[in-house]
Amino acid sequence: MTDPYEAKRHYQQEAVAGDYDRARFAGLRGWLVNWLEQRLLMKAMAGVPAGAKVLDLPVGTGRMARRLNAAGYRAVGTDVSEPMLKVSAELAGGRADLARGDGEALPYRAGAFQAAVCFRLLVHLPERARKNVLREMARVASDRVVAVYQPHRLSLWWLVYGLLLRRKLPLHFVAPGDLEREFESCGLRLLRSHALLRGVFMERAYVLEPIAGA
Ligand SMILES: C[S@@+](CC[C@H](N)C(=O)[O-])C[C@H]1O[C@@H](n2cnc3c(N)ncnc32)[C@H](O)[C@@H]1O
Repeated sequence: MTDPYEAKRHYQQEAVAGDYDRARFAGLRGWLVNWLEQRLLMKAMAGVPAGAKVLDLPVGTGRMARRLNAAGYRAVGTDVSEPMLKVSAELAGGRADLARGDGEALPYRAGAFQAAVCFRLLVHLPERARKNVLREMARVASDRVVAVYQPHRLSLWWLVYGLLLRRKLPLHFVAPGDLEREFESCGLRLLRSHALLRGVFMERAYVLEPIAGA
């Protein structure tokens, strides 16, 4: 049984999918954020050899899958939203490997991928759904899971950050001290982490390895 939550419904709308990239990544600030996130992806993938099969969950409109393919990986994109997958296929000129699927119950066998990456999803998920997604990534990836979080408690800094940068405060918080426990409870060991841009953006990519037999 998978959980319903806003991020699962919201992106099912054609208009939201059609406007996704323009609404987030147009203009100088959007371009910079996209560039930083793609740089973060590549830092987190260091050590995974070119040619590896990588799950991009959720693929959205495909920006990370396209970056992975450009770096020599074989990206497979999965998303619960048909409209997002349609935009992703169009932007890839029909050359993308895409499938509809729910991150909480992935339609892949154990170890089907060498790595799985997850950008801009976990922050939207309530704890149970977030852990379901992590467990599924740990199951389908043999060597590496990359999970992006915004690991902070609600604080004055968060409010200033929201007001100055007009960034939405995440609905679901995980405190930094609780993260390793969360990873381990989902069968993942923390190897290292990378900040998106230290002191400016809170996003951090956690580079994890599936614990054998967990
Ligand atoms: C903010 S977008 C992020 C897309 C992409 N990772 C990126 O960084 O641009 C969130 C995506 O998560 C998808 N999504 C939400 N819940 C999901 C679930 N349980 N399984 C798979 N995809 C899901 C939505 O359909 C949407 O495409």
